[in-house]
This record gives sequence, structure tokens and C-alpha cells, in this order.
Amino acid sequence: MVRLSRPVISARLRIISWMLGVLALALGAVVFLTWQVLAARADSAADDELSHEANKFRSYVASPSAGAFRTPEELLERWLQLNLPDDSETFFSIVDGRPYRRGQGSPQARLDADAAFVQRIAGATEPEYGWVQSSAGKVRYGVLPMRIGTQPVRAQLVVLEFRDMIAQPSEDAARALAIIGALTLAMAAGACWLVTGRVLAPIRQLRTTAEQIGESDLRRRIDVVGNDDVAQLARTFNTMLDRLEVAFVAQREFADNAGHELRTPITVIRGHLELMSDDPADRAETKALVLDELVRMNRMVDDLLVLAKSDRPDFLAPAEVNLTELVVEVVAKARPLADRTWRVDETADAVIVADGQRLTQALMQLVSNAVRHTKTGDRIAVGSRVETDQVVLWVADSGSGIAAADAERIFERFVRGDEQVRTEGAGLGLSIVRSIARAHGGDVRVVAHDGPGARFELTLPEVRG
Ligand SMILES: Nc1ncnc2c1ncn2[C@@H]1O[C@H](COP(=O)(O)OP(=O)(O)OP(=O)(O)O)[C@@H](O)[C@H]1O
Ligand SMILES: [Mg+2]
Repeated sequence: MVRLSRPVISARLRIISWMLGVLALALGAVVFLTWQVLAARADSAADDELSHEANKFRSYVASPSAGAFRTPEELLERWLQLNLPDDSETFFSIVDGRPYRRGQGSPQARLDADAAFVQRIAGATEPEYGWVQSSAGKVRYGVLPMRIGTQPVRAQLVVLEFRDMIAQPSEDAARALAIIGALTLAMAAGACWLVTGRVLAPIRQLRTTAEQIGESDLRRRIDVVGNDDVAQLARTFNTMLDRLEVAFVAQREFADNAGHELRTPITVIRGHLELMSDDPADRAETKALVLDELVRMNRMVDDLLVLAKSDRPDFLAPAEVNLTELVVEVVAKARPLADRTWRVDETADAVIVADGQRLTQALMQLVSNAVRHTKTGDRIAVGSRVETDQVVLWVADSGSGIAAADAERIFERFVRGDEQVRTEGAGLGLSIVRSIARAHGGDVRVVAHDGPGARFELTLPEVRG
């Protein structure tokens, strides 16, 4: 048997109480209705018995042998001698307002001894039927007055049917039904307890595992047994943990790298400040160096913030963007950066829905890389093109180019090309470009091409403005 902890037990009790509640209601309704039907049947059975006895008496009174009696008392006495009552009935006669003779057998209750009852019925001159309460429960009675010719005389036969005794077998059956119902309920409760225990055990395991999974131990997984809904839940849970683990590891690496990268300028600044002398020339030089490092740090922090924000839904503010204007503006902004041969290649005359500022930011990152890897007079070109279902934006240069082996890894965070001197950049530029492209549903890659230099292409799914 599985031992369950408290929250699961309460779920279990809730399921069981609901089930038992419904079952008890159904069983109660069945027992109640059965009991009602049986009670109505007992009433009509008592009635039938009474009519039967009354008919027998009437036939006897009308028979030729009845003429032989001199007085009504004698006739009644003879009838009482001849008729043996059932266990559930009794007869007695009334003469001159008083109980006169009783039928054979010992009745359940002695209504002939009930003076009030006898007094009430003794005056009957017509047949009279009704219900009376006795020590043996409800009794159906019939008073049959005697007549001589058409004249009633003060003598009556009283027939009594003990309805509760007639109903006894039916009531026993209803009671048995109620007991069986209660036993069924108890058995259902037991079965329910066992079944819910089995069903909820994997959920409990799920819960304990979930509780044990802290940030430090995202590697734990839930054992998946079988192929039912609970197993499916465990599988979904494990998939979610896979994703969480990947995200968590990436986040930790990112934080490690960021810390590591920021430590370098801080160390540089500290070293310079510690070694700074009172010489004004030395001071001016240190100040310039420190400011330069701070600008670099500032840029890195800004880049990190952009990357941290890139997963958020409000990262983009889409609006209509004219591709020609975008390309021309980027080249205009880039021109003062360095003395290069700046070119606008072909540009598509199209309006798309995108975040123009983020696209400019991405292209400027590509342009600043191109400047860094080209020399005076080299060519840097920016352009755009609309293809079947996508828009392509590119920055191409005639600089040092990119080794095929580096083509993919340079897009990772903090990854720089081998030839780079450490202080030049943090290696975040291309990750930002990729984040912006992916936030738009597109991507960025290095494209192989003829001739020297590098060519970066940013592809976006086309959303026409
Ligand atoms: N146009 C290019 N020509 C040649 N190599 C390039 C070019 N653009 C990028 N690279 C290579 O890709 C690497 C990564 O570029 P990325 O822009 O991510 O970082 P970074 O420019 O070094 O630093 P940051 O952009 O953070 O200042 C660069 O270090 C460089 O080696
Ligand atoms: Mg860069």
C-alpha cells in the first residue's frame, strides 16, 4: 500500500466523498422508493383481505343454512366457529353494543377490549370500513351489521386485518435492501481508497521530485512508468525540465562570461589609478585611458541589457519600414565612422512591418564590424532585396574576411575571431544582430561569396506594410 502525504490525502478524500455522496444518494432513493411501493402494496393487501372476509360473511348470511338460526348471536357464533382467521387477522362479534364472542386464535392486539373503539363502531347500521391504530400497528377494520329482513339489528361482525403484519415480509425485504446498500457503500469506499491511492501515487512522486528540484539540481527527472495520462504528465514535466535546464545553464554561462569580461576593464582602471603619480601629464594620460575603459564598459553593459531584453515580448515595436530609406539612412550614419568606399548596393522598393530602430541597430553592428576589419579605401556596401517570401538585408565588405570554421561560432556571445586583440570588442555585436533577427522571426548568417571580405545577410520573413 502506498503511503501518501497530506495534500494528496485530501485530494483522495475529496474524490471518495464525492463518489460516496452520489452513490449514497442513488441507493437512498432506491431504498426509499422500494419502501414506499411496498407500503402501498401492504395497504391494498389488507384491503383485499378485508373484502374477501366481508364477501364470505355476506354469502354465509345469504345462504339457506343461515335461516336455521333463531337469533343473530347464534349465526355469528357459528360463523366464528367455522372461519379460522389467518395469522394477520381476527374477528369478533358485537351484540347490543358489547363485544360478544371472539374468533379462534390469539390476535396480535385485542381491539375487542378497546372500549372506545367498540363504542365507536357498535352503532353501525351500514357496513363501515376504516383504519385504526392498535398496539400491533395499523389495523384495517370492517364492521358488518346483521339484518333481519331489511331491518338492522344490534349485532355486528367485526373483521380486523393487521396491516403491519401483512407488510412484515416487504419491510424485511426493504431493510435487507438498505443493509446491502450500506455494505455496498462501505465496499465502494474501500475500493475507491485503494484505487485513488494507486492513481495518485505517481502524482505524489511528481510532487516530491518537483519539490526536490532546486536551481542547483535541475538534472533530476521523474521516472516515467506506463503510458497513461499520469505518465504523459510526467513526460511533459520532464520535457519542461529539459528546457529549463538548458535555459538555466545558458543563463549561468552568460552571467559568468559577463562577469569575466567586465572584470578586465575594472582591473585596467584600478591598475592605472593605483599607479598614477602627481605628474600632470601622467594624470591626463591616465584620465584618458580610464575614460576610454569606462566607455567600453558602458557599451558592454548596454549590449548586455539589449541581449537580456531580447527574449521579452516588448523587445520589438513593429511599424511600417521603408527598406530603401532604412538602407540609405544606415549608410549616411556609417559614412563619418571611417574613411571607406561606402556603397548602397541595390535596395528593394518595399515597405515591411518591422522594428526600424532595431533593424538600424543590427545593421550598424554589422557596419562597425566591417569598419574594424577593413582598411582605408576598402569597400563597404549595404543593400536590401525582396525574395519570394522573405526580405534580405546585407552588409558586405572587402576586408580580411571570415574563416569558414568561424562562420557559425562568431554569433555566440563573447566569441571573437582569433585574430582580434582582446581589448577591441566584447564579442557581443553579432549576438545582438542574431537576437534582433530572431525576434523578427528571421536569422543572420555569413554568406560565402566570390572575392575578398565578408558578407553578412539578415533574412526576415516578409510582412508587407
Ligand atoms: N566584417 C567582418 N570581417 C571579418 N571578421 C568579422 C567581421 N565581422 C565580425 N567578424 C568576426 O566576428 C567576431 C565577432 O563579432 P562581434 O561583432 O560579435 O564581436 P566584436 O566585434 O569582436 O565585439 P563587439 O561587437 O562586442 O564590440 C569578431 O571578433 C570578428 O573576428
Ligand atoms: Mg562587433
